[in-house]
Amino acid sequence: METLNKDDFYRLVESRKSIRKFKPDQIDKAQLERILLAGCHAPSGKNRQNWRFYVVQGQKKDEYLALSQKSWLNIKDILKERLKPSLYDFTERFFYTLGGAPILIFCYSNNTKDEKYLTSVGSVYMAVENINLACVAEGLGCCTMGAPLEIKKEVDQFLGVTELEEYRSGELELLCGLVIGKPDHQPPKAQRQMEDRIHWLGF
Ligand SMILES: Cc1cc2nc3c(=O)[nH]c(=O)nc-3n(C[C@H](O)[C@H](O)[C@H](O)COP(=O)(O)O)c2cc1C
Repeated sequence: METLNKDDFYRLVESRKSIRKFKPDQIDKAQLERILLAGCHAPSGKNRQNWRFYVVQGQKKDEYLALSQKSWLNIKDILKERLKPSLYDFTERFFYTLGGAPILIFCYSNNTKDEKYLTSVGSVYMAVENINLACVAEGLGCCTMGAPLEIKKEVDQFLGVTELEEYRSGELELLCGLVIGKPDHQPPKAQRQMEDRIHWLGF
């Protein structure tokens, strides 16, 4: 294997941050294919590669905004208590516009009895992190979103996955959405807390 520069790797990992405001520029399909391929290089339980990605742009993406606004109504009360007013307003705008992102990716897990549920779900999230990092490498911004889970059934119908056999048999589950595009802001890096996060035994 070709030697990788470890400094580049750590810089990549550390520079990743959630981007919530995007330029309207379209994204090359070839670029998206590279990003998704990086996702598919993730490890997965029993190598089932149980991720399923639905990539949405254009008018279909615009149609999704109405659903995103609906998901906001489900969580706004909780956030009102938790966020300071300026952040609450920014978050509300983000749900209404998705930051103007040209691309949405909905990430599903295929869960079957031959693999533990959490292993299946975890495998998909490993792919999701690869996608986040590939976006950084491509000069793109990304934000992982659990918000679509507030309106899971409607998202399933919106994407048409309800027609699939693996959905009808109860195997297909939406885990998160990703918004992707060229960054149009540079938010500060969210602080990392190391206290009580790592426990060493036998050192
Ligand atoms: C599973 C998951 C769900 C998330 N859901 C949302 C969301 O619905 N809306 C949002 O704005 N950010 C969401 N985020 C982004 C987190 O808020 C963000 O990762 C965290 O605040 C740390 O900031 P950073 O990504 O810039 O390091 C989610 C992140 C993860 C991993």
